[in-house]
Amino acid sequence: MNVRFAPDGPLRGAIAVPADKSLSHRAALFAAMADEPVEVTGYLDAADTNSTLAAVQALGALVERRDESLVIRGVGLRAAAPVAGAIDVGNAGTLMRLLPGWLAGQEGGSWTLDGDASIRRRPVDRVAAPLAEMGARIEATDGRFPPFTVTGSALQGIEYELPVASAQIKSCVLLAGLLASGPTTVVEPIPTRDHTERMLAAAGVRVTREGDRVTVAAQDELELGALHVPGDPSSAAFLAAAAVLVPGSRIVLEGMCANWTRTGFFRILQRMGGVVVGPLEEPGAGAPDREPVAEVDVAYGPLVGTTVERGEVPLAIDELPLVALLGCYAEGRTVVRGAGELRLKESDRIATVVGGLGGLGARIEALEDRFVVEGGDGLRGGSIDAHGDHRLAMLGAVAGLASREGVEVVGMDAAAVSYPGFEADIAALRGS
Ligand code: S3P
Repeated sequence: MNVRFAPDGPLRGAIAVPADKSLSHRAALFAAMADEPVEVTGYLDAADTNSTLAAVQALGALVERRDESLVIRGVGLRAAAPVAGAIDVGNAGTLMRLLPGWLAGQEGGSWTLDGDASIRRRPVDRVAAPLAEMGARIEATDGRFPPFTVTGSALQGIEYELPVASAQIKSCVLLAGLLASGPTTVVEPIPTRDHTERMLAAAGVRVTREGDRVTVAAQDELELGALHVPGDPSSAAFLAAAAVLVPGSRIVLEGMCANWTRTGFFRILQRMGGVVVGPLEEPGAGAPDREPVAEVDVAYGPLVGTTVERGEVPLAIDELPLVALLGCYAEGRTVVRGAGELRLKESDRIATVVGGLGGLGARIEALEDRFVVEGGDGLRGGSIDAHGDHRLAMLGAVAGLASREGVEVVGMDAAAVSYPGFEADIAALRGS
């Protein structure tokens, strides 16, 4: 589906931010591991998170859809059901990388995971290596890609230093640690999103953090009670970028998760001179077992270029394509470095962002693990291919709103992976 986004006027008004994808995946997975029913409010109804609901149902959980919530009746930590055929993770990298942590500890069980064409290009050796060290067996296509099979075993706790800053790897190892003998420690030299730690702590798990070390112990059960999923800062970032770039705009993002490990983009935007007002959690702060929620006010204004360093990358990982777009409108140069992980996302996001924005008139250059934008001229417009990547589709849309001539997004339907209401929300904010 091709959709054209034209520069016709400001975005104004308040909008409820759609539910967080990372937290929805975790809510469904952790509820499936619990013994008691878990009521989840605000669960994201999108392709990725529906893949997770289907997966936990295949593994024996019951999912009841009520008017305002989901009730998930799990199977307990050690009783994932056998599945005939492969579990289809669709496009969901988080599902693909977290679920093996749970399955690895199911002694005597064996499960195959597979997904769409994009998922088949994404490596799983990064989770297979620590799980094998703990005692599980993982057989992957060409040693590193889906489809792959996880055979559960008695696991031993390990100490694992993350070779790349990835919350997905950290989460996978911590989940396996719930089923292992002895403590499991993950060392993360650069902080990554900490939703798993907070949600496990809320479920009664003793999660300790000392500096860059996170440790969990084996558990008998998870006690979750009820869960509420706040708004997704990664989805909100697209609306915020549009508001900052389109003259006359002012929007309020309601109910956004303000966890500091997710709001790196908003801090970068503030540094670029963007008008962003809201009580975001301070870096390093926050309750260990709760997600903070904030209302964030964003308005149009001039920007200056900035440099995003390696340590900031994981805290804004899914929003870095937007930093490239902001850079096109900022005075001076914008650089994002130490971001090689972008090449392993739903598309190679260094290549697709640089190619896509370059085609719209950006002065942008890709290097192995970075991109550099010469700003000030904004974008002419044209056409951009989403390459089946939800965030690239929404990037193209925001570029169109800010451009001089408009942008046609080829494959706009990809946005439904994380934000099915994106076009409707943009239309509402433009009063159309
Ligand atoms: C996610 C972590 C990030 C992010 C992804 C969701 C998560 O991946 O890009 O969209 O929910 O843990 P990595 O941790 O592998 O960088």
